[in-house]
Amino acid sequence: MPTTKSAATKTPAAKTPAATTPAAKPKSPPKKKSANSATTPELIARKRDGGVLTNDEIGQLVRGFVAGDVADYQMSALAMAIFLRGMTPAETTALTLEMRDSGRVVDLSSVKGSKVDKHSTGGVGDKVSLCLAPLVVACGVPVPMVSGRGLGHTGGTLDKLEAIPGFSVSMPVEQFVKQVREIGCALIGQTADIAPADKRLYALRDVTATVESVPLITASILSKKLAEGIDALVLDVKVGRGAFMKTLADARTLAESLVRVGTLSKKKITAFLTSMDEPLGFAIGNALETREAIDVLNGRGPADLVECTLVLGAEMLRLGRVAKTDAEARKKLEAAIKSGAGARAFEKIVRAQGGDARVVSEPDRLPRAPHRVEIRANAKGYVTGIDPLELGLAAVALGAGRTRADQAVDPVVGIVLGKKLGDAVAKGEVLATVHVRSRSAAAGAIARVGGAFTIAAKRVAPGPLVLDVVR
Ligand code: URA
Repeated sequence: MPTTKSAATKTPAAKTPAATTPAAKPKSPPKKKSANSATTPELIARKRDGGVLTNDEIGQLVRGFVAGDVADYQMSALAMAIFLRGMTPAETTALTLEMRDSGRVVDLSSVKGSKVDKHSTGGVGDKVSLCLAPLVVACGVPVPMVSGRGLGHTGGTLDKLEAIPGFSVSMPVEQFVKQVREIGCALIGQTADIAPADKRLYALRDVTATVESVPLITASILSKKLAEGIDALVLDVKVGRGAFMKTLADARTLAESLVRVGTLSKKKITAFLTSMDEPLGFAIGNALETREAIDVLNGRGPADLVECTLVLGAEMLRLGRVAKTDAEARKKLEAAIKSGAGARAFEKIVRAQGGDARVVSEPDRLPRAPHRVEIRANAKGYVTGIDPLELGLAAVALGAGRTRADQAVDPVVGIVLGKKLGDAVAKGEVLATVHVRSRSAAAGAIARVGGAFTIAAKRVAPGPLVLDVVR
């Protein structure tokens, strides 16, 4: 792998090609198991029985997993034991740091300013990263962003970016550093050498019903984010039927865990708890969501998506030290929308990553589905429910997401809402439009999408978008 002076990395624990380059600083050799250290089955049994693992023992397990000495089935059993028994904050921190150090830690010291990223725990219609990153960059804060793909019923930033013709989400770490230094932002996927332990463990969790665990989610998210070389992180912990955390109490527990471990890892970190009781914005599906994120940059974004972008962005500007107060930060972000500075920043990012930057001023250049099928209300009233889980699953069934990790997504299919919570609706009005490759493909989606809407005679005011914040 080519290296540049600026692209220094800290210490891969695993044997990555980078370990042989001058840019990789040598790490202390992996600790040997002492004669009296516990075996892997003994450690799994301790966690299974509610015991606590030491930092060294967690290190032994993670390093052993990456090296192939701890088998996938043993790691899966450990994940289930953690899922059922939990971890102490110290154990969660140790797991996070070991997973971070399973690969390279990017050194962004050659990039001026405080580097700030944002991460969402995942929702339906959540395309915030696409408009947020360029707006924050336009306001002077570098954003090195390593994102994920769609997961279950939730969409992924990488799949949305790839809807832009030519856009590449993969690049060597050296190029990532160079791009952040030159234009303030790069939007990429997890490389093979960034937190490989997470990549492998996540694949096991996905198929062993161990995703929804606070310590495992904390270590998974933060190991990747800490490996990016950031100074600060803003988290959007989604809460509600369309999120992994269904209740405010569970989401708060996750937010507190993320903030605690982030702080123990010496990063500035804030977590917002935001509602996922209806999709964010109107669009669900990759190209459709990319278009809506571009609408935000062009000053035409839907209210809830704009608000979510401004709330998270304002915190990024504060943590990035380019604004002192929330009000000052919001003004800067709003000005970047009005002046087009955010849109120009996105063009630069798209161009740098091989994409057709004309989509920013001409979104019709994004790919579109050949057919659209409208779903209409069969009664008048007010929209009192829009089930984001059902809509997310319907979008996956159309091909916008995956049911197996190795599947490709279809960029053009998806759903565009005609109504949001609290809207009045007349009989026969369009509730949603399904974008499909063929009319027959829409058949299954029609009932599901229609069934996701609840219409009642009495209006219920939608709840707030931001439910809480943990700093
Ligand atoms: N997102 C992640 O990156 N990891 C998890 O475990 C859950 C959501």
